[in-house]
Amino acid sequence: MILSIESSCDDSAISITEIATKKLLFHKKISQELEHSVYGGVVPELAARLHAEALPKILEECEVYFKDLKAVAVTSTPGLAVTLVEGVTMAKAISVALGIPLIGVNHLIGHIYSLFIEKEAEFPLTVLLVSGGHTQVMEVKSLQQIDTVAKSMDDSFGESFDKVAKMMGLGYPGGPLIEKLAKDGDRKKHNFTIPLSQSPLIAFSYSGLKNAVRLAIEKAQSKDEYKDIAASFEHIASAHLIQKLKKYFKDVPPKRFAIVGGASANLYLRGQIEELLKPYGASLLLSELKYCSDNAAMIGRVAVEMYEKKMFSTLDELDISPKSKL
Ligand code: KG4
Ligand code: ZN
Repeated sequence: MILSIESSCDDSAISITEIATKKLLFHKKISQELEHSVYGGVVPELAARLHAEALPKILEECEVYFKDLKAVAVTSTPGLAVTLVEGVTMAKAISVALGIPLIGVNHLIGHIYSLFIEKEAEFPLTVLLVSGGHTQVMEVKSLQQIDTVAKSMDDSFGESFDKVAKMMGLGYPGGPLIEKLAKDGDRKKHNFTIPLSQSPLIAFSYSGLKNAVRLAIEKAQSKDEYKDIAASFEHIASAHLIQKLKKYFKDVPPKRFAIVGGASANLYLRGQIEELLKPYGASLLLSELKYCSDNAAMIGRVAVEMYEKKMFSTLDELDISPKSKL
């Protein structure tokens, strides 16, 4: 079995995965959403302190598995430096105490493997990752062959939902709150400009849209108007992804396509992507809803692949890296 730890942002999570069967034997996550909600976003130092409390509590529940552990895995990149360090320090301590190898997992690869929890992985695959930290398209041929073909130049898709929610005083995380508010809103009410629509670049940008939404919020006469702003924002935020994907598909038509990351839970985006894929007859893969947002089950699933390939790190080699190489 492998014990895997996730602490890259505001979720403390630990999983136990059986290597031979890929079965998830244990998974527990303690989210800090409530604690960060009053600030309208994640406060790194507060997050680190909450990880320091939550991780040992979850670890206690895993003690029965200690004798069967063959490795310990941990998210080491990308994420908040002060929170990554909490998980990595714990993983190193377990590695030393139990004399088992250490595996450093890239969180973004974790999101890709959230598609394959308790399953065989199947590639090639075109993946759209939409999370709080990232918006990127990747061509995935295998665990070690992942090419990023498009990225955000500034804010991420999920982050823009968080910021719009903060401007409306709704709380954190903004994604589910905006999605709920947008349901009864008029998507055509505000004619926000689709970002980079005149640019030939296949890249994403959300800072301009966020500012346009800010102006609309400032102009609103009452909070009753927020639902139309939310609906129009959600529509344009998704339209931007669709427009750039369409452009990309002209050269690289999709066969198997996946959306992963916390914001892949967004039903409006899912619907738009389904429509986009229809003419290509491409299949759409999605993670189970409970594994869209950050979790340790996906880190454990990657760890099984890395264990089989003996992709271990020494104590000295394994270091945190806030920015991903992908
Ligand atoms: O993958 P994740 O849990 O953490 C990162 O790796 O960043 O993603 C969290 C992000 C947050 O920005 C959150 O607002 C967004 O995903 N999110 C959503 C939805 N659910 C979560 N964004 C839009 N619609 C949603 N339903
Ligand atoms: Zn994530």
